[in-house]
Amino acid sequence: MLLITIPSIDSSIRIIDDCQLLIVGGTTSALGAIISASKFLNSRTCLLEPTDWIGGQLTAELLSAPDFAWHTIRDTDNFTLNVRAIDQQLNNQNPLFSEMLAVLGNTGGCHVSPSCSTPSLFHSQAVLPQVNNTRIYYNTVIKRVKKDASGRRITQIDAIQRTSRQTEERCRFLSEELPDWYSPNDSAWFTKTELSFTNLSFVIEGTSWGEVLVLSNASYLQGLMEQFDGDISGIGNSTCGQAFTIGFLEQLREIPVDEPPNPLPEPTGGTNHSFGRYTWEWVWTDRRVNTSALNSSTIAVNDITIQNWGGGNDYGKEFFYLSPSDAQHQRDTNHWEGGVNLNAIQNAERQAYSYHYWYREKAPAQWANRTVLIRSSSLTGTCHYLAKLPYMRESRRSIGYQNFLMNITTIRGRARDLHGYIFDDRMCIGAYDADFHRMAKCTYPSYMNKYYPILPYYIPLRAMTNRDIDNLIPIGKTMAQSFLVNSAVRLHPVEFSIGQAAGVIGTYAVQNNLLSIAEMLKEEHLSRVQSIVKQFTPISWTIDGKRYPDD
Ligand SMILES: *[C@@H]1O[C@H](CO)[C@@H](O)[C@H](O)[C@H]1NC(C)=O
Ligand SMILES: *[C@@H]1O[C@H](CO)[C@@H](O)[C@H](O)[C@H]1NC(C)=O
Ligand SMILES: *[C@@H]1O[C@H](CO)[C@@H](O)[C@H](O)[C@H]1NC(C)=O
Ligand SMILES: *[C@@H]1O[C@H](CO)[C@@H](O)[C@H](O)[C@H]1NC(C)=O
Ligand SMILES: *[C@@H]1O[C@H](CO)[C@@H](O)[C@H](O)[C@H]1NC(C)=O
Ligand SMILES: *[C@@H]1O[C@H](CO)[C@@H](O)[C@H](O)[C@H]1NC(C)=O
Ligand SMILES: *[C@@H]1O[C@H](CO)[C@@H](O)[C@H](O)[C@H]1NC(C)=O
Ligand SMILES: *[C@@H]1O[C@H](CO)[C@@H](O)[C@H](O)[C@H]1NC(C)=O
Ligand SMILES: *[C@@H]1O[C@H](CO)[C@@H](O)[C@H](O)[C@H]1NC(C)=O
Ligand SMILES: *[C@@H]1O[C@H](CO)[C@@H](O)[C@H](O)[C@H]1NC(C)=O
Ligand SMILES: *[C@@H]1O[C@H](CO)[C@@H](O)[C@H](O)[C@H]1NC(C)=O
Repeated sequence: MLLITIPSIDSSIRIIDDCQLLIVGGTTSALGAIISASKFLNSRTCLLEPTDWIGGQLTAELLSAPDFAWHTIRDTDNFTLNVRAIDQQLNNQNPLFSEMLAVLGNTGGCHVSPSCSTPSLFHSQAVLPQVNNTRIYYNTVIKRVKKDASGRRITQIDAIQRTSRQTEERCRFLSEELPDWYSPNDSAWFTKTELSFTNLSFVIEGTSWGEVLVLSNASYLQGLMEQFDGDISGIGNSTCGQAFTIGFLEQLREIPVDEPPNPLPEPTGGTNHSFGRYTWEWVWTDRRVNTSALNSSTIAVNDITIQNWGGGNDYGKEFFYLSPSDAQHQRDTNHWEGGVNLNAIQNAERQAYSYHYWYREKAPAQWANRTVLIRSSSLTGTCHYLAKLPYMRESRRSIGYQNFLMNITTIRGRARDLHGYIFDDRMCIGAYDADFHRMAKCTYPSYMNKYYPILPYYIPLRAMTNRDIDNLIPIGKTMAQSFLVNSAVRLHPVEFSIGQAAGVIGTYAVQNNLLSIAEMLKEEHLSRVQSIVKQFTPISWTIDGKRYPDD
């Protein structure tokens, strides 16, 4: 008997051929990008968000307590530059970011930031209105990237979208659930749809984990750079970089209450929580998001705080990312699951719970047994009450056009220099101190132990390129930058500004039929793109009333 098998077209694959600019990922940068891009290419800009809250560190990574520059630089002769004050001037801020923060204001009276508010409210009231009528595919992760015959252009991206079945299945932590997000198969929890985005013109790499870099076989670096800050000879260190954190919310109750026992075991190797040189009260008010207290030094009943504390829920015993060869293996066997270390995520979840119980126990007598983990899925958006996604301080980082890498010499200097290196191809500005959270058991090269005074800096277009893929725009933590530069660029307002610039860059490239992002470095394009970017975010610094550069 002759059997003829007709290849069946899987009806669950949806082909989407009208997204010319595809933003992959929902980081704070990606959020900035879809807002600016949608102003020009509304129906043809699409975004893939892995969770149901767009905004990355601002929302899904549970840190709606944005970090602004706080430092001052002083030369040996005492010439002083107050970077914090310069950064906080309105004409140096991204106006839309300021507008979003003003929606709720500083409901937490926190001291880490000028504006701390409850993550779920920030998402629904400040973020969602900005992305109304844009094309966001929620609960969607990427699985595969296809390129044209040259290998230099991404033409198609396959993704998996999940729909919750609303069943009574038991709650799973991210470390258990993540493989399900990336599986095309339905599960007891989700039904899945495979989405195939074809006919792509340009792609913005806006993931938290640098997934497009790996899936497109683009050159990238990860972790520590062993030799020196600008070294691109190796891939970086595949086991050492920065610690990551799984955030959660706590509330202070009026009277002592019992809590259910810790549902999780201690992380492998135990914990060593500490307040360092700070106090319980300081940690409470640091990232507090809701309070009736009058100022940041008083604690009040019903306060809500975000826990994201170096000596507490930072997890630094294992690196978050798989080694490049293990990540490639996931890709090449079509088993892509983000290229991340699930053991590290699991231990970080245990670390977070462990820290909560420790913190509760350490409360001063007045607050004994009154600190509770907020077990409300409407406030955390999850059934396990931890953040939807880990708070990341680093990603895989692109190697840019002609090996470009933004290095430390372009952002550091003396106070009297006033600002960092003025790149001709600057696309936005940013400020923050070099701030990296060490991992346990990693030896940091000696150059990492030096102090680098960080000036108000500029971010160039070339940081948003990749040397291998012509139509890829890496943004935020995936930009072409050194490990050290990333530690000063990774914060909310800077990421948002980068994204706003990238949305303009992407739409300009689409509308002008450019073949590569590097083509935009030609003067005829560069000045036009910069003048459009300026409508969204500053590309010059204003310091003591003068603009640098004055253009
Ligand atoms: C592909 O995109 C081009 C614009 O770049 C558009 O004109 C064309 O209709 C698209 N093709 C399909 C099949 O949608
Ligand atoms: C800088 O200021 C410090 C403390 O105010 C002072 O001790 C020192 O002499 C000053 N140095 C110079 C070079 O003025
Ligand atoms: C979203 O847009 C629709 C139609 O344009 C409007 O009716 C609605 O109020 C908007 N929602 C928000 C949250 O801005
Ligand atoms: C999906 O289901 C197919 C057929 O049952 C199975 O072969 C495959 O391993 C499953 N894939 C995953 C990622 O679970
Ligand atoms: C990835 O790129 C490298 C060169 O950087 C090349 O040797 C290798 O064959 C490529 N792999 C795939 C799967 O395209
Ligand atoms: C650092 O970047 C600047 C500007 O791009 C470049 O001129 C310099 O060569 C770089 N330094 C190192 C050590 O890579
Ligand atoms: C815990 O941390 C403290 C302070 O950093 C250190 O002195 C101590 O050795 C650590 N203990 C363990 C078991 O790691
Ligand atoms: C925040 O605090 C105010 C009182 O200061 C209270 O009215 C409000 O309900 C609180 N919000 C949340 C989300 O707990
Ligand atoms: C903060 O408020 C408390 C009481 O509400 C008051 O005692 C304290 O002086 C205030 N602190 C500051 C710095 O205003
Ligand atoms: C806090 O609760 C624990 C466990 O219920 C109890 O043993 C302890 O005495 C309580 N402490 C205070 C100060 O209420
Ligand atoms: C990464 O750093 C660790 C500890 O600092 C070191 O032992 C290891 O050799 C480094 N790995 C690479 C690939 O450089």
